[in-house]
Amino acid sequence: MAEPTYELFDKVVNLCKRRGFVFPSAEIYGGFRSTYDYGPVGVLLLRNVKDAWWRSMVQLRHDVVGLDASILSPPAVWEASGHLANFTDPLVDCKECKERFRLDKLDDPETCPNCGAKGSFTEARQFNLMFKTHAGPVEGKGAEVYLRPETAQGMFLNFKNILETSRKKPPFGIAQIGKSFRNEITPGNFVFRTREFEQMELEFFVPPAEADQWYEYWCKARYDWYVEHGMPEDKLRLRAHDADELSHYSSGTSDVEFLFPWGWDELEGIANRGDYDLTQHATHADTKLEYFDQGSGERYVPHVIEPAAGATRTAMAFLMAAYDEEIVNEEQRTVLRFHPRIAPYTVAVLPLSKKDELVGVSDEVLGLLQPHYMCDFDVTQAIGRRYRRQDEIGTPYCVTIDFDTLDDRAVTIRERDSMEQERVPIEALRDRLGERLGF
Ligand code: GAP
Repeated sequence: MAEPTYELFDKVVNLCKRRGFVFPSAEIYGGFRSTYDYGPVGVLLLRNVKDAWWRSMVQLRHDVVGLDASILSPPAVWEASGHLANFTDPLVDCKECKERFRLDKLDDPETCPNCGAKGSFTEARQFNLMFKTHAGPVEGKGAEVYLRPETAQGMFLNFKNILETSRKKPPFGIAQIGKSFRNEITPGNFVFRTREFEQMELEFFVPPAEADQWYEYWCKARYDWYVEHGMPEDKLRLRAHDADELSHYSSGTSDVEFLFPWGWDELEGIANRGDYDLTQHATHADTKLEYFDQGSGERYVPHVIEPAAGATRTAMAFLMAAYDEEIVNEEQRTVLRFHPRIAPYTVAVLPLSKKDELVGVSDEVLGLLQPHYMCDFDVTQAIGRRYRRQDEIGTPYCVTIDFDTLDDRAVTIRERDSMEQERVPIEALRDRLGERLGF
């Protein structure tokens, strides 16, 4: 069984800054706690995580459709969903140092982890995690709106619209990727827990009698997705929640957990939400949210199985899982061994020299590959250093153009993990890369 390594955390955070994956937000103003910006390489990684999820959850299925719902929503939605009453964490203040903590996350509820004071905490208060703001120019009670704390409610609110327009019937799902916001009391561990983050959620509507079987199906499918995209199985596990851990809507939840440097922690929850959400919204909005099967004459409120993952958190886990160091020619090589679909760049095009003679053929090679793959292009520094830079951002293949290319119209493919090289005619390059990558 793999062990968590704390050293790995610092190494990955440093690499993220150095290579343009993730920057602290508003850094020139001293930073803004717990918010991050995804730089040129990080935005590609995050996009690939989301694309890989969408491909498997929507594109490769016939029973799931997509949605992009609004972030702002009125209090009525959150009253019906139960978030206004229940989406809270117990908050305590240390009377000595004034720091705030989540009571349920303290190792010792008697001792302040910041200043060490004993018995200095206030009584716990339930703190609602939703961000509230005002819509329109007048800040009154009637103008209050909330930033969504999960993407899920958009799917329940649009259940009827989608049923009427998509020709789907249960079992079918609605998938959405987008930003969610939670006013976390203790954000931290880099992008693991932030106040603004991205989720990838599926609400899968099923006949009530099939709920257990679909819950099992999605637990397995979601675990397999991480493995298929390169997560080592000794750092991944599926853990069923104990009864006292369940959310207010759930009758059963399992988490896909990753072995982070601080130990096992959640990547994704798969929940059996029953008919809770559709029933709540049907009651509060005074409408019918049900399915009528014209064939059997049966009418029922579908049950919902929900695989809910964090895109930003998953991107971080892929970074941690991919990080590796080895000694090559007595020098340390840092390499991110990403799965090719997750790697920010798929190919780097590297002309050996900046000289004019190579410009034409380099442009030709880039033009050949860019329509198919995200390509990096780098002409500066010695080729060995450029290979190392690509290793550090996890690019699976480099294509090197040299002066022989002008005579033989061939280029060199260099593979990231083995560092092996192969000479290939330019005309065969796209097919050869396709064969090696599998796409
Ligand atoms: N609709 C159900 C739901 O939102 P959740 O377990 O609260 O369930 C789903 O959130 C996923 O969203 C989590 O497994 C995690 O990956 C991600 N997530 C939740 N809060 C987060 C935060 N503050 N920062 C980053 N990711 C978060």
